[in-house]
Order: sequence, then structure tokens, then C-alpha cells
Amino acid sequence: MSSQNSKVLLVYSGGLDTSICIPLMRQEYGYKDVVTVTVDVGQPQSDIEQAAEKAKLLGTEHYTVDAKEEFAKDFCFASLQANGDYQGYPMSTSIARPLIAAKAVEMAQRLGITSFAHGCTGKGNDQYRIEFGIRSLMSHATIHAPVRERNMTRSWEIEYAQKNNVPIQQSLEKIWSIDENLWGRSIEGGRLEEPDFAPPEEIFQWTQSVEKAPNAATEMSIQFKKGIPVSLNGETLSAAALVIKLNKIAGDHGIGRIDIMEDRMMGLKVRENYECPGSVVLLKAHQALENLVLTRDEIRFKKTVDLEWSKLAYEGLWWDPFKTDLECFIQKTQERVTGHVKLKLFKGQTTVLGRSSDWALYSEDLASFDSTTFDQRESTGSVKNFGMQPRMFQHLAEKFKTQM
Ligand code: ARG
Repeated sequence: MSSQNSKVLLVYSGGLDTSICIPLMRQEYGYKDVVTVTVDVGQPQSDIEQAAEKAKLLGTEHYTVDAKEEFAKDFCFASLQANGDYQGYPMSTSIARPLIAAKAVEMAQRLGITSFAHGCTGKGNDQYRIEFGIRSLMSHATIHAPVRERNMTRSWEIEYAQKNNVPIQQSLEKIWSIDENLWGRSIEGGRLEEPDFAPPEEIFQWTQSVEKAPNAATEMSIQFKKGIPVSLNGETLSAAALVIKLNKIAGDHGIGRIDIMEDRMMGLKVRENYECPGSVVLLKAHQALENLVLTRDEIRFKKTVDLEWSKLAYEGLWWDPFKTDLECFIQKTQERVTGHVKLKLFKGQTTVLGRSSDWALYSEDLASFDSTTFDQRESTGSVKNFGMQPRMFQHLAEKFKTQM
């Protein structure tokens, strides 16, 4: 083995799957040194600290990369501009993976490493997203996925961890598999994957139950510039700060609990639970503003573009030229998505109270019942000719009814 690939870079979260990869890389994969990288995309600070502590204990060269602002700006808000949604899920986990892969590659390049390892299982979507990301940015990368390659079970992992002094106390207590970032929180595992199992209240951490949500509504205003939220109630905030703040406000009102049947990339149908308070509110507000400023045809066509974009984002195909093609259209439309949206947050619901923009395709003078600018009589001709072909068909159908 050359000195260049005696080191492997492990994409590290500090959880059981990635932690056992550390001794595995040394004992089973023959690497002398393991470098661990944890990318901070807004997961709890305690997770990041624990990952660093474990890495230290297990003797890796460890790095934490703060990518929160980049994640919010270039991934969450890019998704917002595309009304990013997959089967009712704002794709919080999905859109974080390309950035995690990019940061891992950036670090590997800095350290002269070309071998990677990750802890994704062979059942989920993340393996596709992470490996596509790494290979797109470093075509000659070698990637190891021990959990998948060795078809591991949780009990095997726990036993292996115990034998190799990998701390697992936390993992033993954890019933749920949680993935968290600024755009949302996903809770999986245990009985939660059964379609007919009602999610227990204990799985939720960001959102209040509707029953316990306050009886008084919160009204707020969000300002958008070119499809990007820039201020909350008049307070200008950085991308990450805005999302964090909104997660708290909307979560307290019980907004953003999502319970869906999700079709994973390989076709597995799995029940998924999410908490996405901030993203749910922003998506609603963004769409309300688009509906004010875009033409009818733009709105109709953008639904198709958004759907295609979302499929690519769900699959982690962040560096697909098709995505860039779609973004050319999306960006052009967003030039006018500038203005304010007023909202009411109450008992799990987000209601749009109002929207305004200099680009509004709305004229009070034309739409009003009292307007005289719009001479109603001028509609007569177009109304008379409306639906000419289907009307002709109806008359023919009537005429030939007896012969049919
Ligand atoms: N099903 C979601 C996705 O593929 C979330 C998966 C990760 N969630 C987790 N708790 N590990 O985007």
C-alpha cells in the first residue's frame, strides 16, 4: 500500500455505524491512519462534541467542519427556490448529503487522501447520495461502505464495538435513528417504520403537540429577495440564523410534523416521520409570493421543473447537468420573487394572511368589482367563442347518438 492511501477519511457522525468503522478500517481494511470528519449542518451541538470526544478516544485525526451557513444558503434556500419537496418531505436529510460529501472531499484533497469510508447501510438512500457526491468531485476516489459490504446487523455491530472499546452506552439507549440538520429532523427505526404504528409523542423534539401549542397565534412577516428569505419581522438575519429562529417559533406552534409513506430510491416503501417547522413555513410563504408575481404559465410550468429538481435533490444528484439546466429556469423566475409575506402560526397550521411585491401581477383597478377601467362588455366576443371545439363535438355527439 502506498503512503498516499495508508490513510482513509471517514465521514463521521459519532453514531454506532460510523464509530465501528474506525477499528474496522484499521483491522479489516488495512489502513494505518483514520481521519474522521464531522460536518456541522445544524445537528445538536452535543452530537458534534460527542463525535469529537469519541474520535479522540479512538485515536483518529479528527476535524469538525462548520458548514451551517453554506448549508442554509446554498442548499436549503436553493431547495426553497425550487419549492423542494419529495412526497410531502422537504428533503432535509437528502440535501445535506451532497454538502457532507463535498466537505469530505475538500478535506481529503487538503490532506492528500483518496480513500473514503462511510457508515451508510445498504438499504437506504444515503449511500447513493454520499458516494455520488464523492465520486463526482474526486473521480479516482476509493470508497468503503463496511456496514453494507459486510451486511451487518445491529447486534453484530454492538458486539464488535464492545470488543474494540468503542463507547456504545448512548447507542444502546437509543431506540430511534435520528438525522438532524437546519432544514429538519428525521426520526426512523424501531416500530416507526410500520405504516400502522402511531408515532409516540416522545419522538418529537422540535415541535410541540397541537394540544400543547399555545392558544394565542403568532403573526409574522417574512421578507424575500429573489426567492431568498432575508428578514423575519423586519430583522435582517443570516441564512442559518433565520432558519434556526423560525424552527423555534414554528415548532412551538406545533407546525411541521410530517408523517408519510416514502418511496425510497431502490423502491422500498417506508413510513417516515419528520419535524420540519422552519422549512414548512418558508415553503408556504415562498409559494404564496410566487403566486403573486409569476404568470399563470410560469407557475404551471415551474411545478414540473420543481418536481424534476426535487427528484434529483432527493437522489443526491447535486452535480447533474440536468439540475443546472432546471436551475437556469428557476433562477430566472426568482428574480421577481421579492416582497413580503404575512403569516399566522397557530395550532400546527401556517396561514398566509397577506403578500405584497413591487412585481405583483395584480391591479386593484382591474380586479375590483367597482372598477370601470375594465369594460365588461369587451368580454362578450371571447366568451362566445370560448370552448369552440368541445362545443362542436357535443353537437356532433348529439347528432350521431342514434348511430353510435
Ligand atoms: N428517508 C429520508 C431520506 O432518505 C431520511 C433518512 C435518514 N434518516 C435517519 N433517521 N437516519 O432523505
